[in-house]
Amino acid sequence: MPYKRVTLTHFLLQEQRRLGRSGTFTALMQDIITACKMISHEVNRGALAGNLGVAGSENVQGEEQKKLDVLANDIFLHMNALGGTYAAMASEELEDVHLVTGGAEGKYLLLFDPLDGSSNIDVNISVGSIFSILRLPEGASPNSKDVFLQPGVEQVAAGYACYGSSTMIVLTTGNGVNGFTLDRDIGMFILTHPNMSIPAEANEFAINASRARFWEPPVQRYIDECQAGKDGPRGRNFNMRWVASMVAEVHRILCRGGVFLYPTDSEMKKRGGKLRLMYEANPMAFIVEQAGGAASTGRQRIMEVQPTDLHQRIGVVLGSKDEVERIVRYHAE
Ligand code: AHG
Ligand code: MN
Ligand code: MN
Repeated sequence: MPYKRVTLTHFLLQEQRRLGRSGTFTALMQDIITACKMISHEVNRGALAGNLGVAGSENVQGEEQKKLDVLANDIFLHMNALGGTYAAMASEELEDVHLVTGGAEGKYLLLFDPLDGSSNIDVNISVGSIFSILRLPEGASPNSKDVFLQPGVEQVAAGYACYGSSTMIVLTTGNGVNGFTLDRDIGMFILTHPNMSIPAEANEFAINASRARFWEPPVQRYIDECQAGKDGPRGRNFNMRWVASMVAEVHRILCRGGVFLYPTDSEMKKRGGKLRLMYEANPMAFIVEQAGGAASTGRQRIMEVQPTDLHQRIGVVLGSKDEVERIVRYHAE
C-alpha cells in the first residue's frame, strides 16, 4: 500500500528513539537530505539549466572543475550551515576547512565529495554525492584541519546519494545499511531497500583496465584469474563493469555483489592512490562493511588508516567479503 511507506525522516526519528540519541543528529541529516534533493534537481535539469560543461577553474587537487562540481559544493556548504549542527566542513572542492559561524555551537564535522564521477555529467551517466560525519572532539577547536584527521572507525554516519535512473540515498549510522528512493511527486525519500547486504561471493569486478601496465603483482594476479574464467584457477566466469563513478559502482555492489578496485599502482604510488581517504574511501568503507562486505587498501583495513592530510589519497579494494579477502591474501603472499 503506497500510503503505508516509511519516509527517511520517519526512519531517522525511529533510529533516534531506539538509540536514545538527541534530535541534533536527525536535524543534521535533514540538511544533507535537502542538499541532495537540490543537487538531484540540478543534475536532472542538465543542459536545460545550462548545468553541463566546465566551470573554468581547478580545485585544490589540480582537477578541472565542472559547473556541477561547483554548484553541488555551494549547495552542500549553504544547506548544511543553516542548521547550526556542524562546527566545520571539509570538501573535495575546498583546500581548507570551512568553518560554520553564526549558528549554534555545532558538535559535528561534515566531510563530503559534492559530486562524484563528474566526468559522467556531460554524457548523462550516473553521478553521486558522498558524505561522512565525525564528532568534533571534546574541547577541540574546529579551526584546524587536525580535528578532521580521525580514522574511519570514528565515523558517526556515512552515506551517498546516487543520481541515477532514480535518485537514492543510502545511509549507515553503524547499524546496517538502508536505501531510500526519491519520490519526486511528494518530494520525499522513501525506504525502498531495507537492510542492504552484499553477497559474500561475487562474479563481477570493476577496475580501470587502462592502468594495467602499472598494476602491482597481486592486482594483476587477481584480474588475470578472473579473466581466465572457467578455464582458470577460479573455475567460473566473471563479468566486468566500469562506470567511472564510485557511487554507482558501490551501489551496484550493494545491490548484487561484486568487487571494486582503484588500487595504488607503480605510477601513482607517490600520490598514494586516486581516491580520497576522508570523503570517498572512508564513508564507502563504512557502508560496505555495514552491509557485510569488506574494504581494504590491499594491505590494511581502510577504516583503520590514520589520516595525515584532509585530501590524502589511498588505494581502495572493496565489496564482497570473499573477494576482498582473497585480494588481501594475494598482497600478503
Ligand atoms: P570525482 O569525480 O569526485 O573526482 O571522483 C571520480 C573518481 C571515482 O568516482 C571513480 O571511481 C574514479 O574517479 C574514476 O576514475 P577514472 O577516470 O580513472 O576512470
Ligand atoms: Mn569522487
Ligand atoms: Mn567530486
